[in-house]
Amino acid sequence: MVTIKSEFEISKMRIAGQVLGQALKLLEEMIQPGVNCLDLDKAFIEFITSKGCTSNFLGYYDYPAHICVSVNEQLIHGIPQNRILKDGDIVSIDTGCVFEGYHADAALTKICGEPRNNLELKLVNDTRKSLELAIEQVRDDVRIGTISATVQKFIEQNGFQLPTDFAGHGIGTAMHEDPLIPNTGKMDTGMRLKAGMTICIEPMVQISTSKTITAKDKWTVISADNSMAAHFEHTILVTEEGCEILTLFKD
Ligand code: MF3
Ligand code: CO
Repeated sequence: MVTIKSEFEISKMRIAGQVLGQALKLLEEMIQPGVNCLDLDKAFIEFITSKGCTSNFLGYYDYPAHICVSVNEQLIHGIPQNRILKDGDIVSIDTGCVFEGYHADAALTKICGEPRNNLELKLVNDTRKSLELAIEQVRDDVRIGTISATVQKFIEQNGFQLPTDFAGHGIGTAMHEDPLIPNTGKMDTGMRLKAGMTICIEPMVQISTSKTITAKDKWTVISADNSMAAHFEHTILVTEEGCEILTLFKD
């Protein structure tokens, strides 16, 4: 069921989103050569707890951590490990939190230290850009296919690949609500978004294959050819005029 949020609900989602935006910024700054991935998880849960939020990842289908840390060929759902990040690692951090029953969900990818090459830098920049372009399309009455097609067109024009096994989603009193927001699709098709809907748009991109495999830990999703991967996500409120990015970092 797709729901239109009330002002009361939106005010709670704004708080969850703002806390998450700040937490993600903190983690982004921590991603440096020499940092242990377990310390990212620890810093995250300490921060959101101090702001009155709880984790929506921990225990989700028995997920064992508060964030996902997916490195290099890992696309999404990497369980934070006792692993020291190295210069050039491509680090995707996916995070979520709940404030008084309302969820936020956001992700980013950062190259740790110096990029290894221009292609990997382009992968990260183009994935971020595809989310920005998709967000620019969001307003009352836009059709979901237009958002999906915007991501697809930009990513494919730039020669990268889009796994189709995973998608964005609605969000509110649960982390995953209807509707599904795929990263591939056709312009001017699908359901119309309405002001007051809250959604997550999350392009997931790989360098040279759209196929993924799930690791033995049953969580970590890896590109099938071990090529590098990137992921960005924001929680967004649809408005009459456009949208409000609830998980955008604000001081
Ligand atoms: N935040 C992810 C998403 O973007 C889901 C994380 S699954 C979890 O939809 F198990 F790690 F929580
Ligand atoms: Co999400």
